Amino acid sequence: MKKYNLLLLGPPGAGKGTQAQVLAHKYNLIRLDTGSLIRAAIQSGTDLGLKAKEFVSAGKLIPDTLVINLILNELKKIKEMDRNFLLDGFPRNLAQAEALEQTLKANDCKLDFAVEIKLDFDKLLDRITGRRICTNKACNAVYHLQFSPPKQENICDLCGSFLYQRDDDKAELVKTRLETYQKETLPLTEFYKNKSLLKEINGNQTPEQVSEDIFKVLI
Ligand code: AP5
Repeated sequence: MKKYNLLLLGPPGAGKGTQAQVLAHKYNLIRLDTGSLIRAAIQSGTDLGLKAKEFVSAGKLIPDTLVINLILNELKKIKEMDRNFLLDGFPRNLAQAEALEQTLKANDCKLDFAVEIKLDFDKLLDRITGRRICTNKACNAVYHLQFSPPKQENICDLCGSFLYQRDDDKAELVKTRLETYQKETLPLTEFYKNKSLLKEINGNQTPEQVSEDIFKVLI
């Protein structure tokens, strides 16, 4: 099995988290899911969580000073374990991408591919507002009311815990999240294209077809 260091790009609701689970399992990668780390910090009321809360609830990115060191420290730990990484939700702007590049270089490490999951903007609202997540943090399974509903309403198939809707998944916040994505994160596709690392994937397909397309481009 080939070893990869990967990152996922794409708008909110494109299916990054869904594919991250598959890729981490298939390629034995340690997944760094920035959004989940931040939500856990908010829930536990840590210093980071208290500072991050107002930004997340406004659909904005949290400041680079809060997120960059957090993720780069985690990456160093992964390197020390001699494992490979999958970044889901980082970088989200050029400053973060440049900080990542410097850290990788300093640790004698490199990114192999940036996989961008593209999805028509008119489909994103349904994807986001229909998402439900397991309340059990150790499980964290993700469902969709229409596309991958749980067998029993509001109950996780895997562990039996209740499901919940993320606060930032309410329809009224989605527009701001998409604007934030277009302004701050979309330029990263050009950044990685210029480095010949970008792989574009059609996210307007079933999760299984999206996974297959990703496997095909990872060569
Ligand atoms: P984060 O948690 O990273 O959210 P996001 O990027 O907006 O992405 P999502 O989690 O909404 O979507 P996804 O692409 O993972 O989709 P999923 O697979 O779940 O970030 C949240 C917030 O944290 C940010 O707004 C920001 O405030 C802060 N933050 C995070 N990182 C930061 C950073 N680096 N810097 C600063 N701030 C940061 O799929 C969505 C739904 O669709 C699910 O229900 C799923 O079941 C379904 N689905 C998935 N694929 C398919 C398919 N192919 N067909 C049908 N349904 C599908």
